[in-house]
Amino acid sequence: MSSETLPGLERILFTEEQISGRIRELAAEISERYAGKSIKLIGVLKGSVFFLTALAQQITVPVKIDFLGISSFSNKSGAPGVVRIAKDLDESIEGEDVLLVEDIVDTGFTLRYLLQTLAGRGPNSLAVCTFLDRNSRRIVQVPVDYRCFEIPDRFVVGFGLDYNQVYRNLTYVAVMKPDKGG
Ligand code: IMP
Ligand code: MG
Repeated sequence: MSSETLPGLERILFTEEQISGRIRELAAEISERYAGKSIKLIGVLKGSVFFLTALAQQITVPVKIDFLGISSFSNKSGAPGVVRIAKDLDESIEGEDVLLVEDIVDTGFTLRYLLQTLAGRGPNSLAVCTFLDRNSRRIVQVPVDYRCFEIPDRFVVGFGLDYNQVYRNLTYVAVMKPDKGG
C-alpha cells in the first residue's frame, strides 16, 4: 500500500525490507544469547503482535508465546503514567527466560509497570525487546535490551502501531502528518 494513498501520512520512516532485515539481525542476536535455552516471548497487546510474530519466526531456539493486554490512563494534569493489566497472561512465567516484546518505548511508564509486575512472578530471567525506541521522550529510566530502531520525536504508525486503532496493518512504519498527531 503506498503512503500517498493514505491522507494522514507524511512519509515512510522504515520500509518493509528495512524492517525484515533488522528483525533478522535482532533474532540472530537473541538466538545466540539464549543458546541452549528456550524463550518465553510475552507480547503486549495489540501493538506488538506484528513485530512479535515476525521476530519469533526468525528465532532459532525454542519459543513459547503469551500475551497480556494493558490499559493506560492519564492523570488529571494529562500526564501519562497510570497503567493496569486488562488481560493477564494465560500461563505462569515462574522459572522461565522471559523476553517482553513491546511495540514502542516512549515515556517508559508502561514498561516500568510491566517489568515490576513480571519480575514479581519469579521468572528465571527478564529482558526487554522493543520494535521502536523514542529515547528523547523518556521520563522514567527503563532497561531496553534489544531494539530494532531508534526513532525521532514524531508520532508513527504501521507494523502494529496505531492511530485511533487504525494503520496497524501497514507493512511499513510511517510518520503521521503534524495535524494528525505526528
Ligand atoms: P509509554 O508508557 O509512554 O512508554 O507508552 C508506550 C505506549 O504508547 C506504546 O505501547 C504505544 O501504545 C503508545 N505510543 C507511544 N508512541 C506512539 C506512536 O508514535 N505511535 C503509536 N503509538 C504510540
Ligand atoms: Mg497503542
